[in-house]
Amino acid sequence: MPDGTGTAAEGERNVGNRNDGTVSLVTGANRGIGLEVCRQLAALGHTVVLTARSAEAASAAAERLGVQAMRLDVTSDGDVARVADEVAKRFGRLDVLVNNAAITYDTWQRATTADLAVVREAAETNLYGPWRLTQALLPLLRASDHARIVNVSSEAGSLTGMGGGTPAYTASKVALNAVTRMFAAELRDAGILVNSVCPGWVATDMGGAGGRPVVEGAASVVWAATLPDDGPTGGFFRDGHPLPW
Ligand SMILES: NC(=O)c1ccc[n+]([C@@H]2O[C@H](COP(=O)([O-])OP(=O)(O)OC[C@H]3O[C@@H](n4cnc5c(N)ncnc54)[C@H](OP(=O)(O)O)[C@@H]3O)[C@@H](O)[C@H]2O)c1
Repeated sequence: MPDGTGTAAEGERNVGNRNDGTVSLVTGANRGIGLEVCRQLAALGHTVVLTARSAEAASAAAERLGVQAMRLDVTSDGDVARVADEVAKRFGRLDVLVNNAAITYDTWQRATTADLAVVREAAETNLYGPWRLTQALLPLLRASDHARIVNVSSEAGSLTGMGGGTPAYTASKVALNAVTRMFAAELRDAGILVNSVCPGWVATDMGGAGGRPVVEGAASVVWAATLPDDGPTGGFFRDGHPLPW
């Protein structure tokens, strides 16, 4: 994949064999929930840009689904700028952005003793990553008639029932929810719907064994990515139902 970008089986075998013209981009999509979100969106007829921080992983996963691939490390200003440029050149707009990539479910830490370097590192991917990417892609989202931004969050970031533990992860998701609220308010007049979604406890590398199937977790995300124009904005949902902030 030259320069970290490229296409895999471009246009040759879209999963659903029908293209509804919607252009969707998903971060952290080489495995787990992101990969399955790409599969489900492609099955709905979206033109999907599957991104991953490894060019090889992006290409391999995109090849399997018959979607397009781009290398994107959400912590890299250079990657973000290149992807925005590439999406502009290929499509001239973006309809759906799914900020899915995340790290550091730090079950080994407590807030009272947490290593703040770990907290900062998590925020770089889980908070500043989606924030910088959404800013960079905003001109392309504004060019869409039906733009949707989905920030994949977690009920761990709900203040209402919050206890202790997983401090790096939890703080990053609380702040991501704040970003959802601010972007939703600032983009309401533009008709861009911005929501946080919890996929539930899902059996992925992050979630571990015992969680629900990845198909179900991804469907929770796809719901917010495919809202009608009169759908909600500035909300926090799981499986289409509101969660308390
Ligand atoms: N699984 C659960 O039970 C659960 C529950 C609530 C919320 N969530 C949320 O759901 C989302 C997906 O979780 P998951 O369970 O699918 O996690 P996962 O299996 O650990 O996958 C995480 C993905 O993020 C990518 N990633 C990490 N850092 C990145 C970066 N800097 N730039 C781009 N991509 C990066 C990883 O890429 P590499 O392969 O290169 O590492 C991987 O593709 C996350 O936002 C998570 O917080 C999950």
